[in-house]
Amino acid sequence: MRIILATITLGLIIGCSGLDQTQDLSPKGAFIDSLLNEMTLTEKIGQMSQATGSWETTGPVIKDPDMVDLASNGKVGSFLNVFGAKRTRSAQKLAVEQSRLGIPLIFGYDMIHGYATTFPIPLAEAASWDLELIKTSAELTALEAAAAGLHWNFAPMVDIARDPRWGRIMEGAGEDPWWGSQVAVARVEGYQGEDLASLSTIAATAKHFAAYGAAEGGRDYNTTEVSERTLREVYLPPFQAAADAGVATFMNGFNDLNGIPVTASELLVRQILKKEWNFKGFVVSDWASVQEMTDHTIASSDKEAARLALLGGCDMEMVSTTYREYLEALVDEHPEFITHIDDAVRRVLAIKYDLGLFQDPYRYSDPEREAKLVLHNDHFKHARAIAKRSIVLLENRNQTLPLKRDLSRIAVIGPLVDDKETPMGTWSAQGKEENVTTILEGLRLAVGDQTKILTSNGCDVNSSDKSDFKKARSLASKADVIIAVVGEEALMSGEALSRADIGLPGVQLELLQMLKATGKPVVVVLMNGRPIAEPWMYENCDAVLETWHLGVQSGPAIADVLFGSYNPSGKLPVTIPRAAGQIPLYYNHKNTGRAYDPSERYTSQYIDEDHLPQYPFGYGLSYTTFEYSDLSLDKPELHRGDSIEIEVKLTNTGAFSGEEVVQLYTRDLFGSVTRPVIELKGFKKVYLEPGTSTQVSFTITSDNLRFWDKDLNFRAESGAFKVFVGPNSVDHLEGEFSLID
Ligand code: BGC
Repeated sequence: MRIILATITLGLIIGCSGLDQTQDLSPKGAFIDSLLNEMTLTEKIGQMSQATGSWETTGPVIKDPDMVDLASNGKVGSFLNVFGAKRTRSAQKLAVEQSRLGIPLIFGYDMIHGYATTFPIPLAEAASWDLELIKTSAELTALEAAAAGLHWNFAPMVDIARDPRWGRIMEGAGEDPWWGSQVAVARVEGYQGEDLASLSTIAATAKHFAAYGAAEGGRDYNTTEVSERTLREVYLPPFQAAADAGVATFMNGFNDLNGIPVTASELLVRQILKKEWNFKGFVVSDWASVQEMTDHTIASSDKEAARLALLGGCDMEMVSTTYREYLEALVDEHPEFITHIDDAVRRVLAIKYDLGLFQDPYRYSDPEREAKLVLHNDHFKHARAIAKRSIVLLENRNQTLPLKRDLSRIAVIGPLVDDKETPMGTWSAQGKEENVTTILEGLRLAVGDQTKILTSNGCDVNSSDKSDFKKARSLASKADVIIAVVGEEALMSGEALSRADIGLPGVQLELLQMLKATGKPVVVVLMNGRPIAEPWMYENCDAVLETWHLGVQSGPAIADVLFGSYNPSGKLPVTIPRAAGQIPLYYNHKNTGRAYDPSERYTSQYIDEDHLPQYPFGYGLSYTTFEYSDLSLDKPELHRGDSIEIEVKLTNTGAFSGEEVVQLYTRDLFGSVTRPVIELKGFKKVYLEPGTSTQVSFTITSDNLRFWDKDLNFRAESGAFKVFVGPNSVDHLEGEFSLID
């Protein structure tokens, strides 16, 4: 009787738990199986444990007794925050030469927008709508990281963010699931390349699984309540795209989703990720997120937290030590848990195998390669190329921009004019201030001898001190044009850096108002890690450039745009609200039964603020103008399984050559569940000389129209659709078609 029961229990666990049951008969599978056979339970648990390095205090050779003990006794499978060819080599040596089985360590690190060469923050890069360049940033990050002995990047963050108060919005690709998926794939492909064993690639991580960006009130780490439909429609697509692109690992989030901390979510990890999506890589927890389940009030002890995480499908525990401390006891009590442990260890070993670490554990730790590749000149060239493409021109009244190169005096005013830390943004890894060219330096390089640059900070980013206003005003009144460099410092966005007020901090708005009162044209260069809600600035300054945090080549890239050697082409990957009180505010919202209509009182609107955003998703200007005309569809009806061609004529009607991001949206007029007013389905970035035209075409298949219907089936429903093509999510040409069975 007991035997039968045990079999049934085991069967249940295996049947529904997303454990990988396919027997891998390849040499890799055979190698892993035989290694697993040799391993003690303690060694297996070691592979499921990750510890952090403490390099600031221990220097290049490992001296920290804990780390030495862990690595030499097979008690960890991975370190994070251990980097550099020499350091990784010495840590690896402990594991390979001292531990019983010599299983190599995998070294992970957060390289969110570069290792030592800092590229624009991810949100900025998403504004470039240039997937090739986004991929190149990831490739170069991998190249530098791999040369510095690293194997694994905790990026890309693919969380959809509809709340700019949330500081981590800077780490992702913005608010749209379709665009977020494209960017996720570009980044995964960039980090991982074709072959993880190549010395130029590293393993990537899709994080933070899932819905972490939906934190209540934009407060980091907070509770998330998201229906399964919204989860699947909005938050999961970039994760699924990353899984389909072969991402090596996933990371759990810190959040509690609908009552279950995601670190223990069998639905998310075992059911959706490992079973539905057939993900073969491994899942790492977030920093101590296993142990934090006690604070979440779901685990009454660390041991219970370990049990929940193991059953939830978390294969490796980051930093906290509940696996190391309690998994053995848990297996004693529940022998069937060994199945979960073996599955987790297989997954970890498989990625180590793919990285080539069993062939040569030191292959990435090569000081010569590191010296040659890290901060390579070519990486700076790329940093400039993508930085200028990430800039979004938000306003350009009276064609204030581009500036003429022969101006006699330019006043460059603001707290960020010569700041070297801010352009690096948060999560700058091994980025160093000395490698940053500030905007002031960039402008000095760009102008000739005839132009005098007058400069003053005017104020700090976040203080109430206005004592420098006078000097700033006096310099500004002598200039032909004022460039005002304002915004947020690096550490005003990112992890645990949420804001309740997303306007300009401190007295920066007053500084702008004082500058504007001089009567001189004011060009605002905005540096920030999240959308900034500051209507006066957008509505009164002569030009506004959204430059985010652009990395090491900020200065030259911004100068390229200010003087017109590059015509800005970026478009917003997020909505910019007018006020924090409007949040959440995103373009692909539902219509409601009483859609916004300012002429009707009983419709969805505010009594004290506009209903509409300051700038919609997809918005961005150019120095030239583009005209859209002649939208046509090749047929009025789309048969299921078939496709429809949409064409539009695009003409450059202005005086500059330039690129336009032509955007394609659809609207499903009626569904078995309410449908968004508009959804992005595609885009083309097109270059045109002045006075020339081109035909831009798109294909929509019936598969592109699928959504999660009322029974949570992913399918397209027949009926009428609208199609929109235009320069952003609001202004477009419109057509119609029907999907028929
Ligand atoms: C963050 C992760 C990061 C990890 C390791 C956590 O606090 O949420 O995104 O990868 O730390 O540094």
